[in-house]
Amino acid sequence: RSRQPIVAIDGPAGAGKSTVARLVADRLGLMYLDTGAMYRAVTWHVLTQEIDPADEVAVAEALANCQIRLATEPATAPGEPGLTRVWVNEAEITQAIRTAEVTAQVSTIAAQPTVRKVLLKQQQEYGTQGGVVMEGRDIGTHVFPAAELKVFLTASVEERARRRQRDLLAQNQPPVSIEALEEAIDERDRKDSTRRVAPLQKAEDAIELLTDGLSIEEVVERIVALFEDRLHRN
Ligand code: CDP
Ligand code: CDP
Repeated sequence: RSRQPIVAIDGPAGAGKSTVARLVADRLGLMYLDTGAMYRAVTWHVLTQEIDPADEVAVAEALANCQIRLATEPATAPGEPGLTRVWVNEAEITQAIRTAEVTAQVSTIAAQPTVRKVLLKQQQEYGTQGGVVMEGRDIGTHVFPAAELKVFLTASVEERARRRQRDLLAQNQPPVSIEALEEAIDERDRKDSTRRVAPLQKAEDAIELLTDGLSIEEVVERIVALFEDRLHRN
């Protein structure tokens, strides 16, 4: 093999991809790339320029002047992975890409073929040498279809809404009802799964992991075990 292994982690909103993927990367000594943060960065840029997110021509133009940079800080302790910081051009937008406004518009931006083409290329370049855990919606199906391990992480919508509610509480953000959270999650999953280009879909050879009732550590252990099993067999 001419490159280091790649672990692809895909799944719907709130399944635990970011949390689990960065811990798996630490455990395996691999790099980590949050591709959702890249779609969020483009969305932030578009909203900041006061461009209509549905205006594909204007969004494509804005992309030409949207230099995205991601840097994941080293783990502070075992089980305490480093923060991924995000910039567009000179502005640090690590927090700004997590707002409800960005979350509400990101699926509209991510459905656009030009946006996907540009980010796909950057993601493939990042993984040229391998040695990375990459997380998103289409990593196993489009970005790295030859990844050594593909995991499709899921959880029931009720469980995912409960996790989001806990996150909001922990971040001192205004409370949102479980019903409203479920609706927002369903709506984003629907948009992500039905778009024409690279929809959210389990790759045929991905291992599906339903995480209801599993702790973060349990999910990480399972993925690390799957990875080690794969490497020993090859
Ligand atoms: O909120 P959550 O962490 O689940 O989402 P995210 O991973 O930050 O991704 C935000 C959005 O980016 C998704 O809802 C998708 O619309 C889009 N996305 C995508 O289309 N393809 C990827 N590989 C990653 C994210
Ligand atoms: O990246 P994605 O949207 O798939 O999910 P996330 O942001 O990593 O996880 C959403 C929330 O679920 C976080 O607060 C995680 O700590 C939590 N989580 C959990 O409670 N149990 C798991 N097995 C995985 C994640």
